[in-house]
Amino acid sequence: MRAFSSRGATYEAPPNIALVKYWGVRDPERALPYNSSLSVTLERLRSRTTVRFDPDRGTDRVVLNGAEATGPPREAVVRFLDRVRAAASVPLAADVRSSNNFPTASGLASSASGFAALAGAATIAAGLELSPRALSRLARLGSGSASRSIFGGFVEWRAGTRADGSDCYARPLFGPDHWPELVDLVLLVEGAPVKSVRSAEAMQRTVRTSPAYRRRLEEVTGRLRAVRAAISARDPDRLFPVVMDECDSFREVCETTRPPLDYLTATSRAILAEVRSLNRAEGRAVAGYTHDAGAHVHVFTLAPDARRVRGRLARLPGVRRTLLLRPGPGARTVDA
Ligand code: PMV
Repeated sequence: MRAFSSRGATYEAPPNIALVKYWGVRDPERALPYNSSLSVTLERLRSRTTVRFDPDRGTDRVVLNGAEATGPPREAVVRFLDRVRAAASVPLAADVRSSNNFPTASGLASSASGFAALAGAATIAAGLELSPRALSRLARLGSGSASRSIFGGFVEWRAGTRADGSDCYARPLFGPDHWPELVDLVLLVEGAPVKSVRSAEAMQRTVRTSPAYRRRLEEVTGRLRAVRAAISARDPDRLFPVVMDECDSFREVCETTRPPLDYLTATSRAILAEVRSLNRAEGRAVAGYTHDAGAHVHVFTLAPDARRVRGRLARLPGVRRTLLLRPGPGARTVDA
């Protein structure tokens, strides 16, 4: 058995929001996506996870936000720990405690931050020393988007081509300070439905049944290239329209899935319409919206416009709260 740390290890990881989405895998067992994706890691929000392998423990104990987990959420953590135990030759049950400093049920992506934090804490506790790249590869197996939460700033997760997934990991493109004026207004809407189908299952339903999926795959690489170039040039006029097109493409394949996947509320749709009308009225790309598999909407804009855009969107009926977030740093170990 490897020299595991009896004190355990604590790791912290942030959520991220995808500007180019991951939706559909070519290999579900290895979580290998059809297309590369690109995200912004968000500041301030984080999952913090402590893992301790315990020779006196018979089964894994998983405590999420103070409550003992059961059923599928616990099983997903146990399956992930099994991979780490096998890789580290540490055949011990673990005590896992994880909490988010943002409400899990808010619909903000807690699976990305959660599995990135679990990957870091579990591997260190098991005595494995993984590079950030290897950690990204491992986190991917818990939740695809977690591969990107290892890194800060603007992050690309490359789909890779190899069957074993060895070239399928995220890498940082630009650091968190690359574009200081860029802000993400996160609009939390009232009555956001709790996800009824897990993303991993929902996306495969899209792959099987949406007639629009093939076209999406043909177009997404071009959008990825455009997003990368626009971020590199810090150019909102190029970035915001393509981010909205990409979001519309994601929503189109969800809505044409059978049975349809509808993540938005009337308020979410009103936000999208308001951003379009704002851009039209000003004759420039003032803001760009995106959303994931949930009802809350992220609206990117530049700091000088943020107050005005926020004022306009926060007024819409059903908007509960607005957070103003900038790109933030990646995952990190926390000293106990
Ligand atoms: O990482 P998962 O399995 O929760 O899937 C996330 C998929 C989206 O959030 C909709 C898109 C993305 O790239 O983050």
